[in-house]
Amino acid sequence: MDRKIEVSQEGHLLLGGCDAVKLAKQYGTPLYVMDETAVREAMRAYRQSIEEFYGGRGLICYASKAFACKEIYRIADEEGLGADVVSGGELYTALKAGFPAEKLVFHGNNKTDAELKMALENGVGRIVADSIEEVEGLSALAAELGCEAPILLRVTPGIDAHTHEFIRTGQIDSKFGLTLETGEAMEGVKKALALPSVRLLGLHCHIGSQIMDAAPFIHAGEVMMGFIAEIKAQTGVTLAELNLGGGFGIRYHEGDDPIAYAAYMAEVSEAIRKTADAKGIPTPFILMEPGRSIVGEAGTTLYTVGRRKEIPGVRTYISVDGGMSDNPRYILYQAKYDFLLANRAADRADETVTVAGKCCESGDLLGEGVSLPHAGPGDILAVCCTGAYNYSMASNYNRNPIPPVVMVRDGESRVIVKGQRYEDLIQYDV
Ligand code: LLP
Repeated sequence: MDRKIEVSQEGHLLLGGCDAVKLAKQYGTPLYVMDETAVREAMRAYRQSIEEFYGGRGLICYASKAFACKEIYRIADEEGLGADVVSGGELYTALKAGFPAEKLVFHGNNKTDAELKMALENGVGRIVADSIEEVEGLSALAAELGCEAPILLRVTPGIDAHTHEFIRTGQIDSKFGLTLETGEAMEGVKKALALPSVRLLGLHCHIGSQIMDAAPFIHAGEVMMGFIAEIKAQTGVTLAELNLGGGFGIRYHEGDDPIAYAAYMAEVSEAIRKTADAKGIPTPFILMEPGRSIVGEAGTTLYTVGRRKEIPGVRTYISVDGGMSDNPRYILYQAKYDFLLANRAADRADETVTVAGKCCESGDLLGEGVSLPHAGPGDILAVCCTGAYNYSMASNYNRNPIPPVVMVRDGESRVIVKGQRYEDLIQYDV
């Protein structure tokens, strides 16, 4: 593993200046640990790049599906970000955290009427309409409530980003958005412009997640700008906003090599500006929705190693006290992570093992072909880069309680999400 890590004199992994072995002892395992400084730095980098590359004419909306809890909305707000929410539950959490509704972007390919009503009543700043039916429904609902629905229209730009098929969204065959090629998107724009109680602010696209190079983002930006120009030509209206979605990839494992962040921002903004000039339209107000690239690398999960099972000539299993219930990404996407022993972080790897979870399912693995120092019961295993789509995708499979989330910073730690107790597991049972 060639990831840069901090190790104490005792050889323990340090996270945000805290000894990971002590964290494991104090809070128990499995334990999600989030490095607050890393989260805030990522948010600031995004925010500053809006200043640098778009002259401040834009808003970074943290995609909270990557990791949602009250504290992360508070931090995003403190750092001057907006937020993307994709369900009534995320919207509720953000509002309860005191997040300003006008800086929320509300997504979903099948929002319920109750969710849309909640968004309108609370003054959500932008609702991303996903279909013509939703635009019509929003207009009727807004009229009923005596308000106007501020919307962006989600367009599927026909771009096939090279990432796992479950997290690709820009291609024609997608459940999301209005398709550009078929004319559905233009029809949606005209409908939105004609309806009395919706205010069409602009367009949205999201081409996928964990994308490693700038090319598909550039392509999407150009296609969307071309569409804004076409809308102007056909209707006379110049849409003011363009939301480019999220999807910037991170380095989970040595095979992952995302383009440098600044280069990606520079190349995409340049493409947008150039297309704007070529088409004779102004550069729109830009929104972006990064999730993984804000919280992913800031997170580490700590587990205690239990059973060690050696099958001669086959493989060695190291089982830990969590698994697909706290990190379903291996079973879903065969996601690869970096692993190390938090209590012997400086030791050299001397064997190759399969890290297994404790769930009752053979596929419940966290990694195969993992290089580790010889590990056995009581060792503390750290899995790097688990800040995104781990806690937010956790489940109670096998009635495993969802672990707590602890925030670390400058050698201090604090719980930001309490761990579930067994009594929590039966609280809805009748
Ligand atoms: N905006 C929209 C409309 C999205 O659908 C997503 C992610 C994002 C922004 C944020 O994308 P990010 O910057 O985090 O890549 N569970 C999968 C990822 C699903 C992503 C869904 N949408 C995983 O664990 O890899």
